Amino acid sequence: MRMNTTLVINPKGGSGKTTVTTSLASYFAARSVPVTVMDYDPQGSSLNWLRLRDSFRNRIYSANAAPPKGNRLRGIEMHVPPDTRQLIIDAPAGASGLLLQEMLARADCIVVPVAPSAIDIHATANFIRELLLAGRIRMRNIRLGVVANKVRNSMPTYEPLERFLKSLSLPLLSRLRDSDVYLQAVESGLGLFEMDEATSEREQFRPVAEWVEGPQSQLKSQQIGADRKIIQLPGRPRLLAGVVSN
Ligand SMILES: Nc1ncnc2c1ncn2[C@@H]1O[C@H](COP(=O)(O)OP(=O)(O)OP(=O)(O)O)[C@@H](O)[C@H]1O
Ligand SMILES: [Mg+2]
Repeated sequence: MRMNTTLVINPKGGSGKTTVTTSLASYFAARSVPVTVMDYDPQGSSLNWLRLRDSFRNRIYSANAAPPKGNRLRGIEMHVPPDTRQLIIDAPAGASGLLLQEMLARADCIVVPVAPSAIDIHATANFIRELLLAGRIRMRNIRLGVVANKVRNSMPTYEPLERFLKSLSLPLLSRLRDSDVYLQAVESGLGLFEMDEATSEREQFRPVAEWVEGPQSQLKSQQIGADRKIIQLPGRPRLLAGVVSN
């Protein structure tokens, strides 16, 4: 079986890249799917989370792809164990240039977490437009989905985000509520799928994980029907997208 690689990316800091990465990893680990988290961020937040995990927890492999300091070469630390079925890449904020190209070259699908604020949406929208119009995405059928993160109860939907996604026929995979559970998870090395108290957060996150797993799992869950769309930007090759209804 071939490995599926998911790039979790948004140039905005604090949008939820590491949170989505670790939640995805815990979803697959809980299902005994061999999963590796590859951290491109020099802050190493995902790797810190992995170090906090007890050894008796479901195994999640780690790979450190952060640009090395000084003259050190990236090498052994970047190794992805060959039995890996799901590789999750945690991108750093503001990634661009060769580093961005390197991450895109690995990706089969892209998940973009975004906080529902006007500033975050503006920056994210520009980033997604650039992604769609340039580089590898248009040469390969890379799926791209967006996750609204840190959604407040007082504002469960956010029109500007939904309008933007609709204009490009991009799927909103889920809305993840602002919740202390995510803070507890970071501190404890646990994932949503290992925490008794995370019931509602798990249910909100599940559509994201199922979309990453691919159409097979989406059909299995019967959450969606004829919902794979072809995105066609004027004058550009087609981009395949899945839609998960909320
Ligand atoms: N849905 C949520 N509810 C509450 N807190 C959250 C939620 N998502 C993320 N956080 C918290 O917000 C902070 C930033 O999240 P996270 O580290 O995942 O963002 P990031 O995009 O990886 O940041 P960076 O760009 O610095 O790498 C963390 O403290 C995290 O625990
Ligand atoms: Mg991070």
